[in-house]
Amino acid sequence: MYKYKVSILGTGFIGLCSAACFSNKGIKVLASTHNEKKAKLINDGKAPFFEANLQEIMDDVKKNNSDLLQCLTDPVKAVLETDISMITQGTPMRDDKSIDLGFIESTAREIGEALKTKDKYHLIVVRSTVVPGTTRNLVGKIITEISGKEPGKDFGLCMQPEFLAEGRSIEDTLHPDRIVIGGVDKRSGDMLQEFYEYFYGDHLQNCPILRMNLESAELVKYGNNCLLSTKISYANEFANFAELVPNVDIAQVMAGVGLDYRLNSRFLNAGVGFGGSCFHKDVNAIKAWSKSKGYTSRLLEAVLGINDDQAIHIVDMAEELVGKLAGKKVTLLGLAFKPGTDDMREAASIRVVDELLKRGVTDIIGYDPKANETAEVEMGDKLKYAKSITEALNDSECTLLITEWDEFKKLTPDDFKKQMKTPNLVDGRRIYDYEKFNNALPFKAIGRVNLD
Ligand code: UGA
Repeated sequence: MYKYKVSILGTGFIGLCSAACFSNKGIKVLASTHNEKKAKLINDGKAPFFEANLQEIMDDVKKNNSDLLQCLTDPVKAVLETDISMITQGTPMRDDKSIDLGFIESTAREIGEALKTKDKYHLIVVRSTVVPGTTRNLVGKIITEISGKEPGKDFGLCMQPEFLAEGRSIEDTLHPDRIVIGGVDKRSGDMLQEFYEYFYGDHLQNCPILRMNLESAELVKYGNNCLLSTKISYANEFANFAELVPNVDIAQVMAGVGLDYRLNSRFLNAGVGFGGSCFHKDVNAIKAWSKSKGYTSRLLEAVLGINDDQAIHIVDMAEELVGKLAGKKVTLLGLAFKPGTDDMREAASIRVVDELLKRGVTDIIGYDPKANETAEVEMGDKLKYAKSITEALNDSECTLLITEWDEFKKLTPDDFKKQMKTPNLVDGRRIYDYEKFNNALPFKAIGRVNLD
């Protein structure tokens, strides 16, 4: 067993994927959650949510290292019995769109309680996404207030941002492209670096470790998510430019742009807009944070505005095809914020449904291979939920493709023609061959118009 034991405070995507991967490499992990049901599932070796390959890693741990992963409902005990504590709590968006640090604050209090009675040096690592200053001025100060101990002297304090994407959490945890370590002092950063040198071993030959201060590390994470969101809104703005000129195709334009050696082509796919639990939350959080410091971001305002407008735009495109949609039956193919997940948080489908309702469309039916249930929790009876593509298309007068699941990519123009009342189709993710579909059906696609 590795010399440092680790407590993971928070068992969401980051927390549980780390806990499972660490313990699978011989590290003793005490995870902690206040949710007893979740703790029991984890202790029974069951992943409490779906994430690709997580269950498989948990099965391996159960088989080979079952004593190395344990989940407690007592964070104070978890901290006391380990050497390093990682805070992996959520930082949701408040109603005013600023960051809610409530879970971080309560976890810092629990750590403070534990450190009050602990004499040995202990390292605290914030891995949640937090606005600059949080690790030092909130986490560090609360721990000092409660325990009487000083960061950099009695305990170590680091900030290590996470870059894992849903559906890739295990892959991203095992093979990161870089590790960013912000430290309150050298000793804190050295201890965390030593831990990752053990955990990653040879992988570090291709994965730089960047050392910096706490606030820079906090800002790196926002820099990342804001640039990725900006790339998407930039591609969507250019899709709108492309639609001003007949026969210009945004997919070809972005392929041309993305091959520049200073750029890359990832996250340049135009479409109905980004969703998910992170981009909206983080772009809004850093925007609100900078405003509270007296700086108003114009770029991020535009990134969010362009994204919201894409949902309106796809409904405009549908009305250009069909005329007024009110009174007609409309189908949404895909509801989740991206393929491979049942996550509905900030999904583009929600904005599209709201826009349809605003325009008086009451007969909406949606189908998602994985997210029907979560969509129903999110949107209730705003729409009906089909159990199959066939049921979703049956008798429909217009279909909007919202999420690019593989099973939708296989559909042919004939599938739409056979099953819909009138086969109008708007491709919101550019998954269909433009020429083929445009020749076969009343068809529109983001980022391309054909005036022939
Ligand atoms: C994102 C980041 O990719 C992660 O690096 C980050 O760690 C994570 O947020 C987080 O902060 O926790 P995630 O939200 O899981 O990960 O999903 P992405 O794969 O980034 O997709 C986000 C949205 O962008 C999806 O709705 C997707 O459809 C959309 N997207 C993506 C586009 O519209 N166009 C593209 O070219 C790429």
